[in-house]
Amino acid sequence: MGKKKILVTGGTGYIGSHTVVELIKEGFEVVIIDDLSNSEMEVISRIEKITGIKPQFYQFDLCDSAKLTSFFKENNDIDGIIHFAAFKAVGESVEHPVKYYKNNLLSLMNVLDELNECASKNLVFSSSCTVYGQPDKLPVTEDAPLKNAESPYGNTKKICEEILQDCCKAAKELNVISLRYFNPVGAHDTALIGELPKGVPNNLIPFITQTGADILPELKVFGDDYDTEDGTAIRDYIHVVDLAKAHIAAVKRLLSRASDNNYEHFNVGTGNGYSVLNIINSFEKVSGKPLNYKIVDRRPGDIEKIYAETDLANQKLEWKASRDLENMLASAWKWQQSLK
Ligand code: WQD
Repeated sequence: MGKKKILVTGGTGYIGSHTVVELIKEGFEVVIIDDLSNSEMEVISRIEKITGIKPQFYQFDLCDSAKLTSFFKENNDIDGIIHFAAFKAVGESVEHPVKYYKNNLLSLMNVLDELNECASKNLVFSSSCTVYGQPDKLPVTEDAPLKNAESPYGNTKKICEEILQDCCKAAKELNVISLRYFNPVGAHDTALIGELPKGVPNNLIPFITQTGADILPELKVFGDDYDTEDGTAIRDYIHVVDLAKAHIAAVKRLLSRASDNNYEHFNVGTGNGYSVLNIINSFEKVSGKPLNYKIVDRRPGDIEKIYAETDLANQKLEWKASRDLENMLASAWKWQQSLK
């Protein structure tokens, strides 16, 4: 039997590129669509360096339905889609909500329209723990109530999940798994691919590694008056390669028709919560140098504490995160140093 062919939208991005590497290693044929609005073409040759295989690449915006239709005419043998392509900067989404709703919702709906014409209708969707807001109970389970996400970005993820559930009710032949990511961090062991934040990073780890590399002067810690052991906020950080492997597990579950439910969602975290100060201490240990930081006021919209209940993903996806915090930070630091 020939190789199964997987379309990865947003496949030159941070999580997308790590997932493409794991798909190729697992023997899948991969085709990427990306508009390069938040990534670089160079990533394709890095993927080839790592795997020895250069994935097919099409550069266009998924909001252009005509281009997407002609793509599917040329590629009528897609066995599954992993849909990463979306804008994901929380702060930017607050300033430009329409840009986020238009891009993140329309791109998904265009993909769904094309999926109707596909022989196999399997889709893995990139969602986020942000849909939970601040959970009432921790660790947070998949059946926890969804709250109004603190940002238009988070809301687009919640609405996309609702669109997918409605489509799965309407079309039983559609098979969807949404993966709710916690905080993806780190980089591939080769340091050939990793996070490439544009401008000043919003997220904690790239801000820390750029401070460690003396690109930024100091890290501002957003608040130490939370109801946590050391007062700083807690998150569930997960190595991007563990996260990538969860997508392979989800694709395999869809292809094997293992579930009698054509819509499922899973938490993809480690189940461990670490505070900002825990991260700083661990980074200092890994990099061997003190980190310059200052405690400042809380960042508006931040939640206090979240970490995942991972039992469902462990059982149904037969997947479990394996890399610990030091490994995450060591890979992030090695990647940062490779960027000099
Ligand atoms: C982590 C912790 C900050 C920067 C967001 C999105 C989520 C996902 C991951 C896309 C928080 C603190 C941060 C800094 C700090 N994105 N922090 N100083 O906000 O948990 O999640 O990114 O999928 O959907 O909501 O991640 O890395 O921004 O922050 O003190 O300069 O680090 O307050 O406690 P967050 P983050």
